[in-house]
Amino acid sequence: MSSAAPSPKTFRVKSFGCQMNVYDGERMAELLAAEGMSAAAEGDDADLVVLNTCHIREKATEKVYSDIGRLRRDDGSAPLIAVAGCVAQAEGEEIMARAPSVKVVVGPQSYHRLPEMVADAAAGKRATETDMPAEAKFAALPKRRKSAPTAFLTVQEGCDKFCTYCVVPYTRGAEISRPFADLVEEAKLLVAGGAREITLLGQNVNAWTGEDDKGRTVGLDGLARALAANPDLLRIRYTTSHPNDMTDGLIAAHGELEKLMPFLHLPVQAGNDRVLKAMNRSHTVDSYMALLERIRAVRPDIALSGDFIVGFPGETDTEFEDTLRLVEQVAYAQAFSFKYSPRPGTPAATMPDHVSASVMDERLQRLQAAINRDQLAFNKDSVGKTCDVLVERRGKHRGQWLGKSPWLQSVHFTGDADIGQMVTVELVDAGPNSLSGRLV
Ligand code: 5AD
Ligand code: SF4
Repeated sequence: MSSAAPSPKTFRVKSFGCQMNVYDGERMAELLAAEGMSAAAEGDDADLVVLNTCHIREKATEKVYSDIGRLRRDDGSAPLIAVAGCVAQAEGEEIMARAPSVKVVVGPQSYHRLPEMVADAAAGKRATETDMPAEAKFAALPKRRKSAPTAFLTVQEGCDKFCTYCVVPYTRGAEISRPFADLVEEAKLLVAGGAREITLLGQNVNAWTGEDDKGRTVGLDGLARALAANPDLLRIRYTTSHPNDMTDGLIAAHGELEKLMPFLHLPVQAGNDRVLKAMNRSHTVDSYMALLERIRAVRPDIALSGDFIVGFPGETDTEFEDTLRLVEQVAYAQAFSFKYSPRPGTPAATMPDHVSASVMDERLQRLQAAINRDQLAFNKDSVGKTCDVLVERRGKHRGQWLGKSPWLQSVHFTGDADIGQMVTVELVDAGPNSLSGRLV
């Protein structure tokens, strides 16, 4: 049983995991601010802490419990703790039972109810809400007001693909697309609030579909074209895409729509057809490579990114070598790679022939070495180019600025600039993670 506590005046939202969680975290902060609470200053204790969690890989739940433990203050007191995000969705009941200091558990489709749940909790009533109603949330969120030069906009949620290793279809539910008009409106507000670049987000962002202002059914390319009509929005990106949802229209847009940046995160996961089939990926190595060829035909300078899983159950040495071969052929500008992690309730978790930890470690190291080699080569290839950089923030050194190239590389330079400005920079030197530039 809990007892009443003063209602929280300050809050902190800590987001883990993917960019969609970052977006949700921002919206939760806006909701709490709309209720009159304020964000706790850096270094200060907050009355309310929202842990916006990620469930995609191992130790997610243990991490939440240790984060909860660490929130205890020196005097033994603790803030009001709310657990949100995908761990809340998957293990909400268990968290409530095991962690008495958690007063609120709220899933990713219900966080519009956070303020009332916090009020209930302050009044002594612990609350759990993990229903997955489609779309109710967005309509209930406050209007966007201020934005950094780069903003996220969730356009699509959920996944119907059911890759056999993945919890997303269970934690985020079925694919839903937010309505066209709502997105055009939210983008307009973000741009009015200072955004110059918008990244459209979705677990399967390129499965987004909607009806435009003329009643035509359009895909993500139609949405991007509509957003690009806003003269103050300078750049559009999107992530994460599934190879099977790369439509002809979206590919064509990469050749035609100047504001659509030459960068594509297109996870392949593995470079062997047997493994891809066991993963239920519904594409093959050849169909993936053919897709990249079509995209490169319309946008030869496109920077490619991907996700990889090593050590999927049953993956042999030779099958892993196929992944290395694919990486070598594609030459990614960047990529993420993970050791396979069995997720409770997913089909792969009960497949035979799990790969040992030491083999997974070794494969991951080899894959990451290959990816790092390609990333450095991609950056070095950019040296000598002149490109736009959108300035995002000040750098560590006096007079230094940081921003991104069209290819999503971090670029630093010194000189006369300001946050939110698009400047022209000549790229003069490259490291594995960033480039230095000279203002022109
Ligand atoms: N184990 C390891 N990696 C995973 N991913 C998703 N589920 C798992 C899992 N069970 C990776 C995939 C996906 C990325 C977001 O996380 O590569 O694209
Ligand atoms: Fe998970 Fe596959 Fe859906 Fe991506 S496409 S969210 S990996 S099930």
